[in-house]
Amino acid sequence: MATASVTTTKAAQPAEAKPGVQVSAPSRREFLYYIWGASIALILGETAAGLIWFALPRFKEGEFGGTFTYEGDAIPEAGAAPVNIPSGRFWLVNLPENAGFLSLYGVCTHLGCLPKWVPLNNRFECPCHGSKYQMSGLWIEGPAPRSLDRFKTTVTFEDGTTAETDAGGEPIATNGKKIVKIAVNTGARIKRNGHV
Ligand code: FES
Repeated sequence: MATASVTTTKAAQPAEAKPGVQVSAPSRREFLYYIWGASIALILGETAAGLIWFALPRFKEGEFGGTFTYEGDAIPEAGAAPVNIPSGRFWLVNLPENAGFLSLYGVCTHLGCLPKWVPLNNRFECPCHGSKYQMSGLWIEGPAPRSLDRFKTTVTFEDGTTAETDAGGEPIATNGKKIVKIAVNTGARIKRNGHV
């Protein structure tokens, strides 16, 4: 009687790492993987730096968002008509009876039209929906929800002293002194709180 012989074949086993032997050089695939990762990180870093660069405000002097400076005749005397500065979107106002100096943001607080100074009525009037404001920017009537906003301003008097707008945006006290120079920061708007 024939005896069947059964032969089994062992599956190939991976070679075991020998103690004391270290793998030092990365494979070609690992090397490419590292290069790819570094490239992605570099691209992301450059993109983030570019976004931050464009997001940061960079205003030049004399450009809306920056500081406007004026001297001499450009500055209205106390009680004179407000002076419009269209490129800065503001009005220079030297209130009567030495009640103070301020720079009014020339945009209506209702829907953003540009109120005009009307000498006959001695007030600002908005051509769009009829809001009216005093010379100081205080609301008189109309749909505007608050008085005209103001910009932080620094004034220099003829005696060399300076004064600047306070946090509330109140007129800068002049005490009758002549102003020889002003600097209006259109990047620092002070919003009025309601009809005050
Ligand atoms: S935008 Fe000035 S009243 Fe409407």
